[in-house]
Amino acid sequence: MLLELTEIHTFYGLSHILFGVSLEVAQGETVCLLGRNGVGKTTTLRSIMGLTPPRSGSINIFGKDIKDKQPFEIARMGVGLVPEDRLIFPDLTVGENLEIAMKEKNNVRGWTFEKIYKLFSVLKERNRQLGGTLSGGEQQMLAIARTLMGNPRLLLLDEPSAGLSPIMVQAVEDHIHLLKKEGMTILLTEQNSHSALKVSDRAYILEKGRVVWQGKASVLKKNPVIMKNYLGV
Ligand SMILES: Nc1ncnc2c1ncn2[C@@H]1O[C@H](COP(=O)(O)OP(=O)(O)O)[C@@H](O)[C@H]1O
Ligand SMILES: [Mg+2]
Repeated sequence: MLLELTEIHTFYGLSHILFGVSLEVAQGETVCLLGRNGVGKTTTLRSIMGLTPPRSGSINIFGKDIKDKQPFEIARMGVGLVPEDRLIFPDLTVGENLEIAMKEKNNVRGWTFEKIYKLFSVLKERNRQLGGTLSGGEQQMLAIARTLMGNPRLLLLDEPSAGLSPIMVQAVEDHIHLLKKEGMTILLTEQNSHSALKVSDRAYILEKGRVVWQGKASVLKKNPVIMKNYLGV
């Protein structure tokens, strides 16, 4: 297992948000965390990243307990988070956004400009354009590409399809498939379960901070009762 959450309880101040969430992601897997708005999907990713560490339970990444590790240390271990609000630099060009995210100059061993531009051809076309002038879908591509520049072994995507047009949702799905082919391990959250299930091997459903269902994506797709009960779709 590349990522293993065991019975984590996470709080914001006095607000108890996650109630004993357990979840695992194996090397090379794409796993989605589904659930309605406010159930704790982002909080789960923040717990993994060390931004809001759980108060109890444990998180193992690449076999190491991350207790007491700072977010930058967790990032350095090889975890990359693409937040829902994307946080690209609007006043920098696409190329500059990528360049400042690069971990080392002459990054030959991992993700290079060539490799990124091969995978995200739209970014190559828009290389000199300012980040803020990109469409929502292109900004999502840039946010993912920028995180890849840090050479993560585990990629966390927070609602990658949120706010995108159907065509751009499709483009994001295609890129998740390509990353999977590259051997990337991915944990993504989505309210858009239809999109997430297309790219995922397995799924977890959260409801009020608890895992209420887990299993193969192919099984969930064929189970309208569960989909309706927990996801309202
Ligand atoms: N910084 C915060 N302080 C207090 N409560 C928060 C904070 N962020 C989120 N919450 C609450 O935690 C719950 C889970 O939020 P979140 O993890 O963002 O859900 P999701 O990503 O599934 O929409 C919600 O009830 C939300 O209002
Ligand atoms: Mg969220």
